[in-house]
Amino acid sequence: MSSFPDATALIDRLQPDQPVTLNRPHAAHRAARHFVEHFPGKSLYAVKANPSPELLSHLWDAGITHYDVASIAEVRIVAETLPEAVLCFMHPVKTREAIREAYFTHGVRIFSLDSEDELTKIREATNDADDLTLCVRIRVSSEHAELSLAAKFGAVGDEITPLLQESRQVADTLGICFHVGSQAMTPHAYVQALERVRAAIVDASVTVDIVDVGGGFPSLYPDMTPPPLRDYFGIIDRTFESLPISYSAELWCEPGRALCAEYNSLIVRVERRRGHELYINDGAYGALFDAAHIGWRFPVKALGNDDEHYIEFSFFGPTCDDLDHMAGPFLLPESIRAGDYIEIGMIGAYGAAMRTAFNGFGDTLQFDVEDAPMASLYDGSQTGLLSADNVISFSR
Ligand SMILES: Cc1ncc(COP(=O)(O)O)c(C=O)c1O
Repeated sequence: MSSFPDATALIDRLQPDQPVTLNRPHAAHRAARHFVEHFPGKSLYAVKANPSPELLSHLWDAGITHYDVASIAEVRIVAETLPEAVLCFMHPVKTREAIREAYFTHGVRIFSLDSEDELTKIREATNDADDLTLCVRIRVSSEHAELSLAAKFGAVGDEITPLLQESRQVADTLGICFHVGSQAMTPHAYVQALERVRAAIVDASVTVDIVDVGGGFPSLYPDMTPPPLRDYFGIIDRTFESLPISYSAELWCEPGRALCAEYNSLIVRVERRRGHELYINDGAYGALFDAAHIGWRFPVKALGNDDEHYIEFSFFGPTCDDLDHMAGPFLLPESIRAGDYIEIGMIGAYGAAMRTAFNGFGDTLQFDVEDAPMASLYDGSQTGLLSADNVISFSR
């Protein structure tokens, strides 16, 4: 893949008329090394956050050997891209066909579940295999996360004890997993969840071999500056060590966002200006799904425009839908106009992955760039993004 020093060099040369996804392999590598070196257990990558095969290869090269896959399509992508990777099928509601193909064709042995129906399905689809690792997902609060994952999955209340006990009978290796919600803004979220794990283990009196604290580790976005990851890792380690589990029990995590948010940014072109509204060539049905649908804030930067007088804009994407609207606000030079380019940062998690071809607008270009991401949790400076939307460094 061709590479440019940065977005400005790219637009100077190409003047692209399509959105451009910029890849930063060095940023993905740095994030992965951070987890490999500092998380006090094994780090899986949650493929749904960004299934790009190039990214998967960068993470593998940086030492990520286990991959959380949620669909048979993700199983196939990872199996094809990284034949030696360990796949963990962590969607609690799978089809029998997917389980069967995963087990018999791709060698998947690790499955999650949150119901007795799913346990039966896994048993039957694997012909009562005796080499399964089963991770029972329990529901925990998402109160400390920006994006809830507390409604859909996870055993609750009276369901937990029988499910753990029955899974113990079937599993060669038994795990408990949870998800505290995405972009968890305090390490305390994990402590609360691990206390639920403690109660579940005590109530069920089973031997647990794996505790998987899921994803939820944060990245940096405007107005969202979380504590350093070392705070998360430290408190998870201490709480895990205090659980009633065997000496050899393993601690796992499944970050998506934290491993790939810094990997991508996006160049868009302004096609029209109407007052404080900019019509750009990517949007709600492209990489800006979260900006449109859940009001997620991303940092922005006008390229090649030195005007330092900033005002607030909202964006319209390229399709014909009113829904294709990103309220922002996005702070950009007052003089910005049609034909100008904007770089939108921190789009690597749940951005590039959400793109559709709706209304014929799915095509993008893709290049590697060498500059730093707009913000980083891993550069040692703890740079924060303030509501101004532009990158402002400050020491904490
Ligand atoms: C089971 C599971 N693990 C991990 C993740 C990754 O979460 P995050 O991107 O918040 O780290 C998700 C996200 O939905 C998930 O469902």
